[in-house]
Amino acid sequence: MSQSEWSSDGKSLPIIEPHTKAKHKILEEYVENLILTLYKKGRYGLKTFTFIDGFCGGGMYHDPSTNELWEGSPLRIMKAVERGCQKSRRKYPQPLDVKYIFIDSKTSHLECLKNFSMHQAGFSEEFIRENCQFEKGEFENVINSVLLNLGLRKGHSLFFLDPFGWSHVSMSTIRKINSLSKSEIIYTYMIDPIARFIEQRNDAQLSNFQNILEADGYYLQAKPSMIKSPEYQCYLRNETMRLFRDKGRFNYIFTFSLISRGFTRVIYYLIHMSNNLTALEVMKESFWKENTLDYEYYFELYGYGFRSIDFYQENQIDLKFDINQGNESFCISKLDNEVGALVEGSQDGISFQEISEQTMQTNPASRKHYLEYLKQRREAGDFEIIRDGKITNSRDLKRTDIVRIQRNKQLFLFRF
Ligand SMILES: C[S@@+](CC[C@H](N)C(=O)[O-])C[C@H]1O[C@@H](n2cnc3c(N)ncnc32)[C@H](O)[C@@H]1O
Repeated sequence: MSQSEWSSDGKSLPIIEPHTKAKHKILEEYVENLILTLYKKGRYGLKTFTFIDGFCGGGMYHDPSTNELWEGSPLRIMKAVERGCQKSRRKYPQPLDVKYIFIDSKTSHLECLKNFSMHQAGFSEEFIRENCQFEKGEFENVINSVLLNLGLRKGHSLFFLDPFGWSHVSMSTIRKINSLSKSEIIYTYMIDPIARFIEQRNDAQLSNFQNILEADGYYLQAKPSMIKSPEYQCYLRNETMRLFRDKGRFNYIFTFSLISRGFTRVIYYLIHMSNNLTALEVMKESFWKENTLDYEYYFELYGYGFRSIDFYQENQIDLKFDINQGNESFCISKLDNEVGALVEGSQDGISFQEISEQTMQTNPASRKHYLEYLKQRREAGDFEIIRDGKITNSRDLKRTDIVRIQRNKQLFLFRF
């Protein structure tokens, strides 16, 4: 049995890696906030949710740093839903209609999840029977019938797709998921093997690259001569976002880079795909919490990301600055370039919705940073916010609020 496999009885478990821990924390943080955001909205909040863990694994890992068990993605999703409900102060599990679908190609992994891990984590036989569905098979073979049922079930669906390789999820399936009315994906996208394939032009993978990933015409500049340039990682990330935006047809794509220990290459991205601006905002908050990259240089190259602390120690890089404080000021200065230019360029002002739509995917700032930036510009007397035709001093903004240059400054700026 390989180190990444689960035995049916849970006696043999894979060892958890620091990157996987960061991935799990982002996932659970996001799911909890998703439930809080969508379910808490009083009586009319959304009640039907389906979580599809497409490469679920056996549910538990061994953590050598504590010599204890570490919960895998299926358990983290289920517990985060429970926490989200409790925090929203609504009853759980009723009236919430939540269903979990777990897919894996290995019988022993599903057995470990169902018969060992879920019990270890405290889920009852009855809860598992009523809320969980287990599907054994290759993801691409199983997904069509799952999607058919989801189309009938409706509600919100979150897909967590966490394969080992890059050819197990087709672009055509990503589009099918997108065609469900309220769906989003968190996808572990193995960029390093893809980059190596592109650099070496390994013909054995060409058909997967063209037909499964539909990536012909993307990553064209990724040549061996470019590998050492710092802009290379930035290029790969931008091309990945372009590919999933164009071919996956999701409106909003954002990435979190998982960087290999001691190297500067990204092993994989956690890509979030959604059609909803609020979902993107909530995900950026979750990314922010797990980000260990310092501002400016790394943000420009990788966006948010994770690199274990040992990297900084081994390379004797002094972490004397507070990463988050530096990152906060970087985000605000980035907004000055992007949002500042948008507001200053529009004589009649621009809605907060438009500002967010145009810039949320091009910088690491979260909604909190947008509000802070706009507050600073208002306090400096540069901008004003118009709500229902009147100036408002409210700190929180509505999407329909108009941000415009303060009247006196406008006269000066737009005088012809
Ligand atoms: C990275 S592990 C999943 C880890 C799990 N998501 C977690 O975070 O706890 C990948 C899993 O995908 C399964 N797998 C590999 N190829 C698959 C395929 N084509 N379809 C479905 N499952 C597959 C493997 O058996 C393995 O359990």
